[in-house]
Amino acid sequence: MVGLGVMGRNFLLNMADHGFSVAGYDKDAAKIAALVCEAGQREVRGAADIKILVASLRRPRAVMLLVPAGAPVDAVIEDLLPHLDNGDLIIDAGNSHFTDTDARMHKLAARNMRLLGVGVSGGEEGARHGPSIMPGGAKDAYERVRPVLETAAAQINGEPCATWLGPGSAGHYVKMVHNGIEYGLMQLIAETYDIMKRGLGLSDDELHDSYAEWNRGELAGYLVEIAGKIFSERDAETGRRLIDEILDVAIQKGTGMWTSESALELKVPVPTIDAAVSMRNLSMLESEREAAGAALPRRARAFPGDRGVLLQQLARALFAGMIITYAQGLALLTAASKKYGYGLNLSDVARIWRGGCIIRAAVLEPIRAAYLRQFGLPNLLLDPDLGTSVMAHQEDLRIIVATTAQLGLPAPGLMSALGYLDGYRSAWLPANLIQAQRDYFGAHTYERIDAKGSFHTEWEKQPEP
Ligand code: 6PG
Repeated sequence: MVGLGVMGRNFLLNMADHGFSVAGYDKDAAKIAALVCEAGQREVRGAADIKILVASLRRPRAVMLLVPAGAPVDAVIEDLLPHLDNGDLIIDAGNSHFTDTDARMHKLAARNMRLLGVGVSGGEEGARHGPSIMPGGAKDAYERVRPVLETAAAQINGEPCATWLGPGSAGHYVKMVHNGIEYGLMQLIAETYDIMKRGLGLSDDELHDSYAEWNRGELAGYLVEIAGKIFSERDAETGRRLIDEILDVAIQKGTGMWTSESALELKVPVPTIDAAVSMRNLSMLESEREAAGAALPRRARAFPGDRGVLLQQLARALFAGMIITYAQGLALLTAASKKYGYGLNLSDVARIWRGGCIIRAAVLEPIRAAYLRQFGLPNLLLDPDLGTSVMAHQEDLRIIVATTAQLGLPAPGLMSALGYLDGYRSAWLPANLIQAQRDYFGAHTYERIDAKGSFHTEWEKQPEP
């Protein structure tokens, strides 16, 4: 392992726990010492330089990298290359951009070496006790490290949350979309928090109770679970609830934005993920928001209805929003799989997302079943089971969206989820007017319902009726 930050160290200890003999290297000697100290009696070696690390490995070698995406990955590969031989394997387990992964694979292939691009999700705890692992690259290269990865991964009902996903950058692409969905779900949950806090005036204790209760039902999942726990945490300094001491500005490393960028390029609508990225960016306009709040005031409105009923509707709206967000991400994977030749099996993707990763949730079981029922399912909403489930919750989503609009609370995640649902189930859309306008102002032509081909009209020259 190169890179002994918490993720690298924990992942290595996880492998050692399962009886694999491993070694780790980091530029920072303190991190090597921390690894060796924590390893105790396990078969873990620390290497003081990269040459020693490589020399300690059995041939053909497998070297995993857990370093920040971008230039650090290239720098480590450059450092490793002089010491590696034909047939050696590098495993990039960071959040690399998929196009970088493809480029690095070509570069290494030219030197008879292999690269696996492996998404790892689950944070520090996951790395230590079982993450979800999303590997991509040459199948035979994966086979070499399969026992380690599938043993170290989270296990659900005896099945590992790791499987070979496809060639090239398939693993890193799937991890990127995992993170895009993660952004979407976090935005939806944050909006429910806003509605409960500013709309209904719930206390932190009540917020804790709501999410804890939701986590016992159909909404069960890691992000809902930790939302509940967050509201009960006290600040060690002030003794107040920690959540109320945290700045309302959400930064990002960028994987959600990459998902939106790729979706735009592939012309796949993922509006809830886009909204989540935009809302993080809007949160960063802290002083502007404050000025705008003063310049554009609107009287706060209290929710006039039954709070208990609204809370139930809110949970059901969130469930619909969550399924719709998974549907957007999975539709993007369907398109990317075709475009980039990944040959993804989405029931496998849903299966390895059931445990270990940040977006793990009970609903991934029916999502997996949907893709098992129909391999080429174009959109999750077309699955009879999940489609029926969304439609059974849609009225609640509408009520919540209308309520947030009336109260003046921002809920672009929930609104975009509803807009996507209504847009997707619209056999007719007003896009004919957009075609007509394009042709009117720019002679871009339009297609007709009643004839094939491209048509243009001299709009201004048409006689007035
Ligand atoms: C995971 C997380 C992990 C990381 C995110 C944070 O799956 O374990 O997604 O990859 O915490 O990259 O992303 P942002 O900094 O962009 O929110």
